Amino acid sequence: MQDELERKREELLALVDEAADSAALERMRVRLLGKKGEVTLLLRRIGEVPPEERPAYGRLVNALKAEVEERLQRRAEELARAEEEARLAAEVLDVSLPGRLPALGTRHPLTLVLDEIKEVFLELGFAVAEGPEVEWDYYNFEALNIPRDHPAREMHDSLYITPEILLRTHTSPVQVRTMERQAPELPVRIIAPGRVYRRDALDATHSPIFHQVEGLVVDRGISFADLKGTLVHFARRLLGAERKVRFRPSYFPFTEPSSEVDISCPICRGEGCRVCGETGWLEILGAGLVHPNVLRMARYDPEEVSGFAFGLGVERIAMLKYGIDDIRLFYENDLRFLEQFRRG
Ligand code: FA5
Repeated sequence: MQDELERKREELLALVDEAADSAALERMRVRLLGKKGEVTLLLRRIGEVPPEERPAYGRLVNALKAEVEERLQRRAEELARAEEEARLAAEVLDVSLPGRLPALGTRHPLTLVLDEIKEVFLELGFAVAEGPEVEWDYYNFEALNIPRDHPAREMHDSLYITPEILLRTHTSPVQVRTMERQAPELPVRIIAPGRVYRRDALDATHSPIFHQVEGLVVDRGISFADLKGTLVHFARRLLGAERKVRFRPSYFPFTEPSSEVDISCPICRGEGCRVCGETGWLEILGAGLVHPNVLRMARYDPEEVSGFAFGLGVERIAMLKYGIDDIRLFYENDLRFLEQFRRG
C-alpha cells in the first residue's frame, strides 16, 4: 500500500508540473483537490483500509495532500512569473531606451551675429538706440538731406503706407531721432540695430527685408581717422585679423565725405565668386562724416561739433563670418541650416 501511494504521489506531482499555464493549473487543482478529486478520493478510501493500517494510511495521504498543495502553490508562482515575463517581453515599451527629448530651437545666425556686433560696440562705449520700422518720410529722407526730388530716393524705393509714412529703407533715421532727443548734449555715441525694407530683388547677396546696424558718434573734434579706426577695429574683432578692409570713396547725401567699406571675400579668398560678384570683396557698410546740414537740422552747430556715421549690413557680416554663400538661407527656416549654429 505504501508503494502504491508512493507511485500515486509521484504521478500526481508530475501532473502538477505538467500544467503549462495558470488555466491548466487551475483545472489540475480541481482534478486533484476538488470534491471528486484524486486526493480527495484517496482520503475517502480510508474506510476501505484495514483498521490497523488506517493511522499510517491517514498520515501518508495527508502528507501527500500537503505536498500536492505546496507543489500547486509553487507551480502557480512559477507560472505567474513566466507569464509576467512573457507579457513584458511582448510589450513594445522598452523602458531602457532613452526618452524622447523635446526639440530645442537654436538661436538664429543673424541673432548670434547681431549680439556679437553689439558686444564690440558696447565695449567701445556705444549705447543701443532704437527707432520704428514704420517711419516718417521726414526722418527716413528729409532730415538726412534727401529732399523730395533727390535722385538718391530712387535707390531707396520702399512700401509707402501714406505719402508721408513708409517702411524705413535704412536705420539712418535713428541718427536723426537720437540727435533730436539729445541735442545739445555731447557726446552722442550710439548704435541702432534693426530691420529695414527695400525694393531690392532677392538674389545671393540681396534681400528686400534685411538688417542693418547704424552707428553714430557726435562730439567735438571727430575726424575721419576716428571713423576709420573704429571700423577697422570692428572688422578685425568680428571677422579676424587676417581679413583685409577696403575704404572706397562713395556718396551718401547725409555724409561728407562718404565711403563704402568692403571686406576681402572669405569664400573665394579674393579670387572671385558669386558672393563677391567676382570682385574678391564684399561690401558690408556705408559710412562717412555727418553732413553739416544733418547736424544743423538736428540742432547741433556744425562749426562746433562734428561726427561720423555708418550703416552696416548684418546679413553680409554673417555671410562673411560663417562662410555662407547665399543670403536666402537666412530666411528659409531649413532646420539642416539652422542646426549648424547650435552652441553648447
Ligand atoms: C545705407 O543704407 C546707408 N544708410 C548707410 C550709411 C549710414 C551711410 C550712415 C553713411 C552713414 P547702403 O544702401 O549702402 O547704405 O546699405 C548699407 C549696407 O546694407 C550695405 O553695405 C550692405 O551691407 C547692406 N545692404 C544693402 N542692401 C541690401 C540688401 N538688399 N540685402 C542685404 N543687405 C543689404
